[in-house]
Amino acid sequence: MPPTFRKPNLRLESKQNNMDLISVANEPNLIKVSCPNAKVTGKFGSSLLYAYGQFNFHPRAYEVLMNIDKLKYRSDDVILTMFPKSGSTWLSECIYLIVNGYKYELASKDSIEYRFPQIDSPSHDVFNLILERFYNVNQRRLIKASIPPTLLVDKPNLIEVKQHAIPKVISIFRNPRDVLVSFYHHCKTVKHYDIQFTFDEFFDTFVSGKIPCGPIWLMYNETYKYHKENPKTTLTIFYEDMKRDLRSQIKRICEFLDMQEPVGEEGWSRLLDHLSVERMRQNRTINRHDWTQLGLINTNGFEFVRKGQVNDWKNFFTEEQSLLFDREITANLTPKLRQVYGPQEY
Ligand code: A3P
Repeated sequence: MPPTFRKPNLRLESKQNNMDLISVANEPNLIKVSCPNAKVTGKFGSSLLYAYGQFNFHPRAYEVLMNIDKLKYRSDDVILTMFPKSGSTWLSECIYLIVNGYKYELASKDSIEYRFPQIDSPSHDVFNLILERFYNVNQRRLIKASIPPTLLVDKPNLIEVKQHAIPKVISIFRNPRDVLVSFYHHCKTVKHYDIQFTFDEFFDTFVSGKIPCGPIWLMYNETYKYHKENPKTTLTIFYEDMKRDLRSQIKRICEFLDMQEPVGEEGWSRLLDHLSVERMRQNRTINRHDWTQLGLINTNGFEFVRKGQVNDWKNFFTEEQSLLFDREITANLTPKLRQVYGPQEY
C-alpha cells in the first residue's frame, strides 16, 4: 500500500513576532497549513506564504516539502522543474509524447494535469496519485514541480537518499520579465491565487520575492546549481530556445531520455503542429477547459494558453520598471543565467 499524504491539521500556531503577520495569519478564509513550526512570511491573494529556507512557498508546496521523504525515486522517473508560468505545460506535453512514442490518441484521453501531474499543484492534490504510480512498476513516472531540484531530489535531511535511484531532471527557464507578466495574468484569473493587485503592485511584490516559489532569483540559481553539479542526469531548457527552434530542443530531449525522435518529416510536422500555440489552445487536455466547470476561475473567457510570446513584458513594464528589473537581475542572478537574462533593451 502506498503511504498516504499526511495533511497537517488546519491550525496555525507559528511563533510570530511580527504583528502584521499574526493578523494576516488569523484571517479565517485564507489557504493555510498548520505545522507547529511553519513560519508565515506573508499573504498572497487567497493564501498564506511559508518560509522554507529563504523561499516563500504556497501551502501546497510547503506540505509537499514536509512529506517529501515519502517520495522514493526511480532512475526512469522524469522530473520537470520550473518557476510557475515558464512554459512547463508546453514542455510537459512534449516530454509526454516523446516518452509515450507519440501516441496522440492516448494523450487526448486525459488532462495534462493527470498525465504529467504537478506534485505541488495549488489547484489539484495529486501527491497520492504520484505515490501510487510509484508502486505501478509498469508506468514511467512523469512529475512536475515548482520546487527546485536541490530541495526535491537532493533532500539534505534524508539520509536514505543515497540508496535511491537518481531521477532524470529537466528544468525550464524563461525570461523572468515574461514570467512576471504571465504570472500576473494567471494569478488574477484563478481562484487559488485570487490576487487583487494592480500590475504595479504585482511588479513590486514579484521583485520583493514575496510570491509563491519566490524569489525567482533563488529558484533559478538553485536549479542551475543542481544542474551544474549533476550534468549526467539533468537537462536545461530555455523557453526562448523552444520558441526559436522547437525541433532542435526536441532532439536534445530525445537524446537525454534515450527515446526515439518522430519518424520522418511527417512525424515531425505532426508533432510541431500539435505543439504550436494555436493547437495547444484548442487542445482541451492542455487548455484547462475543465477549470471553469470546477469553479477554479474568476473570470469569463479563461485561456490557460494565453499569448505564448517572447518579450510580452515590453507591453507592460514602464521604462523605470525595466531599469529596476535589470538591476535586480544583475544583483541576484548567477552569472551564467545573467548572461541570458541580463539587462535588456526597453
Ligand atoms: P503567457 O501567459 O505568456 O502566454 P506554464 O505552463 O508553466 O504555466 O506556462 C504558461 C505559459 O506558457 C503561458 O505564457 C502560455 O501561453 C505559454 N505556452 C503554453 N503553450 C505554449 C506553446 N505551445 N507555445 C508557446 N508558449 C506556450
